[in-house]
Order: sequence, then structure tokens, then C-alpha cells
Amino acid sequence: MTSVRDWAGPNPVTENRGGVIGKGVDRYEGALKVTGTAPYAYDTVAPSPPAIGVLVTATIPRGRVTSVDTAEAQAAPGVQLVWTHLNVPTQAPRGTRANPRSQRASNPALGGDRVEYYGQSVAFVVADTFENARAAAELVKVAYAAEPAVVDFLASFDQATLPPDEDDVHIGDFHGAFAAAPVTIDESYFSPIQNHVQMEPCATVAWWEGDKVTVHTSIQMVKGGQHALAETLAIPSTDVHLLTRYIGGGFGGKGQPYDDLILSALAARELKRPVKVAYTRQQMFHGTIHRPAVDMRVRLGAEPDGRLTAFAVEATTHCARAATFTEHAANFSRNLYAAPNRLTGHRLVRMDLPHAGPMRAPGEAPGMLSLECAMDELAEKLGIDPIELRIRNEPDIDPETGKPFSIRQLVRCMTEGAQRFGWERRNPVPGQVRDGRWMVGMGMATAIRGNFLLPAKAGVRIDAGGIITLRQGMTDIGTGTYTILQQITAETLGVPLGHVRVEIGDSDFPPAPGSGGQFGAATAGSAAFEAGMNLRRALTELAVGDPNSPLYGGPAEYVTFENGNIAIENRSETLAALVRRAAPDGVYVEGSISPAADARDYSQHTYGAHFAEVGVNQVTGEVRLRKMFGVFAAGRILNAKTAKSQITGGMIWGVGTALTEVNAVDPRFGSFMNQDMAEYLAPVHADIVDLDSMFLDEADDKANPMGIKGVGELGIAGAGAAIANAIYNATGVRLRDYPMTPDKVLAGLMAKGL
Ligand code: MOS
Repeated sequence: MTSVRDWAGPNPVTENRGGVIGKGVDRYEGALKVTGTAPYAYDTVAPSPPAIGVLVTATIPRGRVTSVDTAEAQAAPGVQLVWTHLNVPTQAPRGTRANPRSQRASNPALGGDRVEYYGQSVAFVVADTFENARAAAELVKVAYAAEPAVVDFLASFDQATLPPDEDDVHIGDFHGAFAAAPVTIDESYFSPIQNHVQMEPCATVAWWEGDKVTVHTSIQMVKGGQHALAETLAIPSTDVHLLTRYIGGGFGGKGQPYDDLILSALAARELKRPVKVAYTRQQMFHGTIHRPAVDMRVRLGAEPDGRLTAFAVEATTHCARAATFTEHAANFSRNLYAAPNRLTGHRLVRMDLPHAGPMRAPGEAPGMLSLECAMDELAEKLGIDPIELRIRNEPDIDPETGKPFSIRQLVRCMTEGAQRFGWERRNPVPGQVRDGRWMVGMGMATAIRGNFLLPAKAGVRIDAGGIITLRQGMTDIGTGTYTILQQITAETLGVPLGHVRVEIGDSDFPPAPGSGGQFGAATAGSAAFEAGMNLRRALTELAVGDPNSPLYGGPAEYVTFENGNIAIENRSETLAALVRRAAPDGVYVEGSISPAADARDYSQHTYGAHFAEVGVNQVTGEVRLRKMFGVFAAGRILNAKTAKSQITGGMIWGVGTALTEVNAVDPRFGSFMNQDMAEYLAPVHADIVDLDSMFLDEADDKANPMGIKGVGELGIAGAGAAIANAIYNATGVRLRDYPMTPDKVLAGLMAKGL
């Protein structure tokens, strides 16, 4: 099996002779997107005009459907079918896997009379037009027997239990050390339910040809969706052709399939015509997943010099009864700061809310909102600069596992950031700086997020015109996957970018795990790199073995690939000429990557430091971002522009987390009160005035052959805490309840007599 040592040393990507790696090249599919011509799932042109399906969803949080009157809906204009749990075609029971290698279990729609959350599908109407389907859906009358539901998280902590297969992690004697510590912090922080609110709601277009179904859908994982549909319909996965070419945001919310996928396929089979189904914006909030609320208790014990002796991060969170998911909000803290006595763990409350699930940087995103404020509180108590406090607790090895770090530039992220941001301008005494009615302050926080490599494949073909096509069952959820795959392939084969086509999002292509956990670039990219290397070998053999090639006879080890040419010193020809002559049908090879056997012998993470300056309006309690800067270390950067876009997006999301973002639960229905983009508040352009970031030079040779890592989730980790710390520095008001809306800020100011 591969060792990380096999990855060390130069290769075409690390040598980067073409200069394509790292360059901020434009998005591969950018022109299609900005001209509105990229066909997203709902835009797919089916072989014949599709019928349109509309979901009818539950209006109670828990109970039973006692009756459904569909007579009026059935008789409405254009209606082609109306399904409820009583007449929907048979599907495999939830959680079944006929194929043991399946990547997803079955997930039937309208699977029974039980209502498990508000917004669960209870009926489905298909009509000739969207308008007719929607009108008919309004005519479906559902009667329920409601049961008592648990929807108030803060009132339910007595029901919290350990998550399945999980225990607290104890190292040393936390309780003894905390009791003995001369300086302590014991505070709780709360972050509320949040929602992905992707620009593109979930949607599927499905049609059948014989026993095979084609689905164009919006999903982060190609194989996961293909297998889930196959398992649910109890058909072989080879009979499901799933395509997901353009995706308008995922963030973890499209890591799994939903009822649009299952019901469009079932209805298309029944009606023998294509069927298209999309979630409404309101249905997205309830029918898909959300980030659960998290309550985090942080206890820190320190010596007067700032060294931590006792360290505890305990998170209480919630999930749906029927779909266990744990927001691992304490996990990140296991790798961040040195402290000999440690306690970390999670508690889970099962509730009757829509399903909780992963959302951008699951764990870190809410989790870092606690510890990174607690460190700020401790720094003030000790009279030590927050950066200095962190430096004094910088571990040499992973503080929990004792493993060496693959590479760790956290301190440089902080010091470089401090210098570029102008941290020395910060007055450590809060509430001192004024700009008219604005109270001005600065805060910082760190970022950490794991790095992962999963098994993946890729295929690459060169045709007689010299055009190279990369194919992979990978997705681009807006992150820039198309673009980096083009760059990697071009650099690996020494050809101009324009010679490389990228085709992804198709279950017929060599499989990759998809987009999630910020593993996409490293995973899919490494497979593309390996495929490119295999094509180099195949073309080298072709050239040195071909009497008509100027490279005939080799030596093969001296072959280079540059500027679209294959060469040995001054003997060269174009790749196109070689292939046209020696392999006119083209050459196709595949490559694959899997984690090295010893990769987990290293503690592998991406790191960063956020710096924020805010103004707090003393009259209104409004918080305005004045400036934000972040420094990040995330391996070799493949594309300066798309990587920075990811980080920028994460940081902006962190601003929203700190100031505006919350899904309030309506206790009557177990629903979310804000269900659209007008009420679910994310920062807009005018809120983000001066936000910038930079990457440190880095290559992590323990990560993969290219030394790259992920950036998709790093930028949000810790970002909100930097804002919260800045609010404190501005006002002296310490808020521990996100988001820090004007009402909370004003109450804090008034309590201080400000
Ligand atoms: Mo992600 S939240 O692991 O897609």
C-alpha cells in the first residue's frame, strides 16, 4: 500500500513548469453561469415535455395522518396523479440496502402515515403544468392526529444523552486541574439553528427508457444519489443514470437525496413521461436538513502566565428522532491548544424538528464560536494579548493523540495576520475607541478544519486532435472543481489550459466521492493527477516505441511534456501529432487515489486566523463590520481566485453567523418562522465593506502527491468568534448568544449604563 513517503518529491504539479497551478484562472464554466446558460437540474431539457410534480407537506410536527381527501385534487385541471402514503408505489423500507456495497440506503417518500416533522411530504400531485400542479396541491385535504412534540431545545436539556457509539474523551484529570487552577473561565455559548439557503433549491428531472431511469438532479454526491434511488426503487444501481452537472450551492445540505429525486423517478415510470419536481424555498427550510442549535460550555484553567492546565469543551445539540446526526462541535478543540488535562464531548437531544445534518464546516463552524471567545475572555482576565495567549498554548504535537502535525502554520497565520491587519492599533481596554456614535473595537480568532483524502478515480482521454478530456463522477457545487481539474490535468500533461475539457457530474464516469467536508479538491484532484500521470506513461510508451516518432528508442526516463509537446531534449513532436499517427482512436486511461496507509499517523489540518474591526452604534445597537482580514494555511493552493472565493465566502458567512443568522422555531408547529431569503438574514454586499484574505505558502507532503488541502470549510471556522470578540473590545459587553442582533447588543449596553 502507498505510504506518504511515496508522495514526497517533485512531480509535474509540484514543479509547475507550465505555471498553471496556483494561478487565478477564470472559472471553466464561468461564461455559462454568468450568461444563464449553464443547465442546472431544473433547466434540463427532457426527451419530451415533462409533467410537473408538487409536494404537499405536513403542517404538524408529530403525529399521524388520519385521512387524506384527494377527490378535488384528482378532478382538478391537468392533474395526472395524486399520491399519498396509501397509494404511492411500493418502495424499499427506510434504511434497506439490497446491495451491500451501496453507498446509500433506501429513503422512501410518502412511506407511511407517521408524521415526524413539520414539512415532511404527505402527498404528491403531478399535473401538466406547474400552475395546475400547485393549484391541485392546494386542494388536497390532510387530517392529522397530532401528538405532543418536543420542539424547544433549550427546555429539553434534561433529555440529552450521549450520542450513539460515542463517549466523552478524558485526558489527565480535568476536574482536579480545573479546581486547582489559579485563573479560570466557565462560560456557555449558544448558536441557534441555521439553514443552508442554497441559491438553487433541490430539483430533479427524471425519465425512463425501458428499465433504466435517467435523473438530472442537484446533489453533492453522485454515487450516493444513484445508490439511494436504486435501493429505494429496488432496482440495480446500473439502471440509474444520475447526472448533476451544475449545482447552485450545496454546503452539506445536498449531501443526501430528498423526495424530489425519489418521487420524480416513480412518477415518470408511472406516467411513462418525464417528470420534474422542485422544492419551493419554504420546503427547502423544512424538507431538507439544517444545522442544529448548539449549546457549548467551555471551562479553561490557566496559570498566571497563560499556560492552560485544564481544558473542557462540552457541546449539547439536537437532531431528529428518526435521523440521528451529531453536530460534533467539540471535536475541533481536540487538536487546537496544548493542555495536559482535558475533557471534551457531546450530548444529543432527540426532537420533533426537521432533520439536522451537516452544514459547511460541521462541528467547527458552531464549535469555534465558543472556545475562540472563551480564549478572548481568558486573555483579558490574564492581561495577556489574545494572540500571545494562543502562542503560549501552541502544541508541538497533537495535544490529544500525540501524533506529529503534517505541517502546522497556525502561529504564522496569527502573526502575519496581526501585522497586515494592524492589530497593534487595538486598544486592549474595551470601550475606549469612538468614531462619533460608533464604538469601535477589534477581535481575532483562529480557524482549524481537518484535511481528508478519500478513494477516488478519474479517466482521461486524448483524442487525435490533441484535446484531452477528463471525466469523473465528481461535482462542482460552485467551489471551482471544474476549474481546478482542468488546471491539474493541463499541468500534469504539459498542455495549455484550452486543450483540456472537463466532464463531471455523471454516474457513468469513474467515481469520486463528490463535494463535502472540504475533501473535494484533494480527493478528486489527486485522482485526476494520477490519471494524468498514467496518460503520460502511456504516451511515453507510444512515442518511444513508434519508429515514426522523433522520440523513437527513448530513453523513456528523459521524456518531458511541455507546451503541448512531448520531447526528449531537442527531439519533439506535438501530442496531437503523436496520437493522430500512433493511436488515431485516441488513448484513454484511468487513475485512482486512496489514502496512504500511514496518512493517519499525522495530525492533518488546515489553519487560519481571522481579524475583525467592528463599529457598534451606541444608539441603535447595530453592529457594522468595518474591516476583516484572514490568513490561512491550507497546503498548495491550486487556483488563487477560486480558493480565495471560498475563503471569502466562508468569512462572510461567519459575519452572518455572528450578526444575523438564525432559524427561529415556531413552538406551535415545530416549523421555522423565517422561511425565505427576506427573513433569513445573510450579509449583503453593503454589509461587507473591506474584507480580504491571504494564503501562506505551503505544501503538505503528507496530504497527497500534490501537497494540496481543502479550503471550502476553513473560512467559516472561527470567523464569527472574531466578530464577537471585536464587539466586546468595542463595548465591553460580552455576548455569548449568537446572533448578536441589535436587541441583545442594546440590552448589554444598557446593563452597562452606556
Ligand atoms: Mo459538507 S457540510 O461536509 O458538504
